[in-house]
Amino acid sequence: MEPFRYNTQTCVYFGRHSMRDNAEQLKELGKKAAIVTTKFVGDAPNLALQDTVAVLEELGTAYVVLDNVETDPPVENIVSLYEELDGFWPDYVIGVGGGAALDVAKALAQFINDGAGEPYNLFFWPGHLLNNYCNMCDIPVVAVPTTAGTGSEVTGGAVLTRSDKDTKESMNMWLYPKIAFVDPRYLETSPQFLLDTGAIDALAHGVEGCLHKDANIMNRSISFAAFDLFSHFKDALLEGELTQEQFDDLSAHSLMQGVSFMQSCTTIPHGMGYPLSQHKNVPHGLACGIFLGEYLKAFRDQSLVLPIVKACGFEDSDEFAEYVRKLTNRDVDIEVTEEEIEYWTDQFMKIQKWRLEANPEELSREDINRLYRTALAKYIK
Ligand SMILES: [Fe+2]
Repeated sequence: MEPFRYNTQTCVYFGRHSMRDNAEQLKELGKKAAIVTTKFVGDAPNLALQDTVAVLEELGTAYVVLDNVETDPPVENIVSLYEELDGFWPDYVIGVGGGAALDVAKALAQFINDGAGEPYNLFFWPGHLLNNYCNMCDIPVVAVPTTAGTGSEVTGGAVLTRSDKDTKESMNMWLYPKIAFVDPRYLETSPQFLLDTGAIDALAHGVEGCLHKDANIMNRSISFAAFDLFSHFKDALLEGELTQEQFDDLSAHSLMQGVSFMQSCTTIPHGMGYPLSQHKNVPHGLACGIFLGEYLKAFRDQSLVLPIVKACGFEDSDEFAEYVRKLTNRDVDIEVTEEEIEYWTDQFMKIQKWRLEANPEELSREDINRLYRTALAKYIK
């Protein structure tokens, strides 16, 4: 067997009411907490925030709620949330919400820990990456995800928007949440497109994480168990009618694919999806999903991908691609030009070389260009 690395650092409590039923875990983290969350659209109740506040009050923990997390959070968002603390120094930070809220919780904890220096230097100093700057933060982070997709509750990365480079980047230091309370109830009031984008993001994490050259027996086992869960809810997701048990499966699928892809990484579809998110405002999961089916269909050696698509409940990669296409097409309405496709292809070949190197089959510029054209055919004007 090939040597491998397996690393996971978060204690996960999964299940309905998992935070309430394991509240004593928070007691050990301290007496003061900062809750980082997102303002919900309209009058939608933030059930996870209500649960968190109830638990902290029950424990007698002092807390502050910072609810100004922005979408695609810019570095400046961390600074303004830090200023909102106004001298309230938390013993720990709780992220309540989707990937953005969890990522901001990580970045804010690191920012407080490191003395609130110049934020770009702090988050993106190359030395942090080279020195394996991992969990060098004395302020623990607790993750309470309300979406199923990013897996941020068990990953070390925090994606922030850099206004200096007009791009999104993960901060260079790694910070894994100490505890994650994953409660499928929080998904039940999600709008359909959020369920779609999350499910496809998680699916892409699993598919790419298994095909990555660094994939190993541990993460592939976890992913394959999660693909089986996917097969249980995929048709109901398309119909928009999930049962309670299927919401549980959806939630566990995302969590498990998060653990899996942290052992290897994402590859081609994630890299190809970035321009769609950045320039066309396509949500991250759907942006990756647009390429996922065509990526699998394009494998010269289909025996590499067949076990994956079969575990997901499909006959072959054509059927897999058809399903993903249905799910992404109903939520994506964009226009792209020939020039954009050429530019994105060039950018991919220039910036995302490491993704090509991690892919089990060699891909040329022509291959990437063909993938862009085939996957985006419906949108080319
Ligand atoms: Fe992703």
